[in-house]
Amino acid sequence: QPVKLNPLMEMHKEAADFYHQILMTTKIGERGLEYARSRQLDDETLKHFQVGYAPDRGDLLLTYLREQGFEDSLLSQSGLFVQSKDGRLFDRFRDRLMFPMTDEAGHPVAFSGRRLSDNKEEAKYLNSPETSVFNKSNLLFHFAEAKKHARKEGHLVLFEGHMDVISAYKAGVKTGIASMGTSLTEQQVYMIRRITKNVIINYDGDDPGLHAAERAVGLFKQAGNFNLGIVVLPEKMDPDEYVKQYGAEHYQGAIKGAISTTDFFLYRLKQKYNLNNEREKVNYLAEAIQEIAGLNPVEQDLYVNRLSEESGVSVEALKVNLSRARRRNR
Ligand code: CTP
Ligand code: MN
Ligand code: MN
Ligand code: MN
Ligand code: MN
Repeated sequence: QPVKLNPLMEMHKEAADFYHQILMTTKIGERGLEYARSRQLDDETLKHFQVGYAPDRGDLLLTYLREQGFEDSLLSQSGLFVQSKDGRLFDRFRDRLMFPMTDEAGHPVAFSGRRLSDNKEEAKYLNSPETSVFNKSNLLFHFAEAKKHARKEGHLVLFEGHMDVISAYKAGVKTGIASMGTSLTEQQVYMIRRITKNVIINYDGDDPGLHAAERAVGLFKQAGNFNLGIVVLPEKMDPDEYVKQYGAEHYQGAIKGAISTTDFFLYRLKQKYNLNNEREKVNYLAEAIQEIAGLNPVEQDLYVNRLSEESGVSVEALKVNLSRARRRNR
């Protein structure tokens, strides 16, 4: 006998089915399907992620859910509707491609809607507000699915957005999850740790993405006991765009080529300094050595050799500074 769901979860299940059916089978959904196709989402993918479409109407979902017997008192607590001053309910999501967001068991508890129009006045993504079944700081997009695949793959891959998770999935990387936006929370880090300590961070290649990756690394390190890899994409690309440009095989290579947090730190550090200027180069080396001093001896040796090669400073000199840095660290 199936477990009885909380009524708000029951409602979200109905809503997700409804939006999905509209997208896949109706005339009014054609606009959404056209958009989905423009983003190269095929039927199988749309089905796997139960992607839907909310038409540009204020009463479609409302009418449907009332017909299913849901009371207005419950509808108004669901986050699926907005309420006018006189108390009337209207569908919150309009003319948006709908991504259901599921809890750890895979039950939809919220939605994220991608704007179809170019109208920049409206937010590109609109998320459900928090409700009694949706707490955004402890939900990760695609987590329920990804954790099944993580058992076999031995890792999870963390993305910024839905489309990144979806494109990666299509490209064979099925362990993708997203914190929806750039601010990963401590709760999400602990959710991840219950599944695996191997995490690959694959954020957008732009500056906000790199900053967010640095911040995420900090959170994982604070929680402790993670093996992290970072995929750095070309500057103007996110994973979705990268997969489309270079294809699945190339993308899987990029995931396998994820760099260590130390490499990522040094890569970011290098961007901060003009290494043609002697004084800046000295500061760069000082900061790099400070970081390296926290590593194990083998890693220290490796990085000192590499720093020496790229900077032209002797290994001996670097090692003197390294042992000073180690002493400072004690
Ligand atoms: N996001 C969100 N709310 C917003 C903006 C972004 O939840 N108002 C989330 C979405 O999941 C989005 C992710 O943050 O996918 C990353 O944002 P961004 O990189 O700006 O999204 P784009 O890649 O530009 O989105 P798209 O690919 O759909 O154009
Ligand atoms: Mn699957
Ligand atoms: Mn981004
Ligand atoms: Mn992006
Ligand atoms: Mn994108």
